[in-house]
Amino acid sequence: ARAVVVAIDGPSGSGKSSVSRRVAERLGLAYLDTGAMYRAATWWALHRGVSLTDGDAVADLVRDMPLVMGVDPREPGVHVDGHDVGEAIRETAISSAVSAVATNLEVRAELGRRQRAEIAAQAASSSFSGGRGIVAEGRDITTVIAPDADVRLLLIASEEARLARRAREVHGSADAAAVEATRDQVVRRDADDSTVSQFLVAADGVVTVDSSELDLEQTVQAVLDVVARTA
Ligand code: C5P
Repeated sequence: ARAVVVAIDGPSGSGKSSVSRRVAERLGLAYLDTGAMYRAATWWALHRGVSLTDGDAVADLVRDMPLVMGVDPREPGVHVDGHDVGEAIRETAISSAVSAVATNLEVRAELGRRQRAEIAAQAASSSFSGGRGIVAEGRDITTVIAPDADVRLLLIASEEARLARRAREVHGSADAAAVEATRDQVVRRDADDSTVSQFLVAADGVVTVDSSELDLEQTVQAVLDVVARTA
């Protein structure tokens, strides 16, 4: 059978990553977290002491970035120049700085090239998926990176639900203080990100799944239903 490409976009806190990983696992597909690539680029620039305001320097650095993305949905590792950065890239300092790197168009061109190459590679029988395909998630996968994907999904959730999820993830609680502390992470980052990628409204042909009222397993099921209908 031909490789299946599932493209999933959505704002932060929509549950994209958890849902995409589980969908990939259930379907025996590879998994690509493109947000982790932008986070890794940000970590690398900070690690190398490159100022994030120097767009050309950041772009040069990212072009040569020795990034290795694991595509096993059970343990999608992220390594840069041999450093395991899986945890470091989730820290607040990275979440706050990542939009500055992700709005650099030369960085987007470079990471976009690598994302397309990985998606294409998963069609080969020698790949992780054995040629079955891949679930790729981010902000511009359905529109820019894989507009011809077999399944294109926009995962949305109310701002309230997204703030509560991120607060639980980052602070272990969704009380008022935790929600306020997460607001910048979610609302400001989405506003900055949407200046370069359109992920708040579904593009033509993209199916919307609203997870506001669904738990993780129900959302996974809703996505699997769309895949079964379309792929
Ligand atoms: O999904 P996650 O929150 O890990 O993404 C981190 C950041 O990477 C986003 O805030 C956005 O700036 C950037 N990103 C992007 N395009 C993608 C995926 C992520 O610009 N396809």
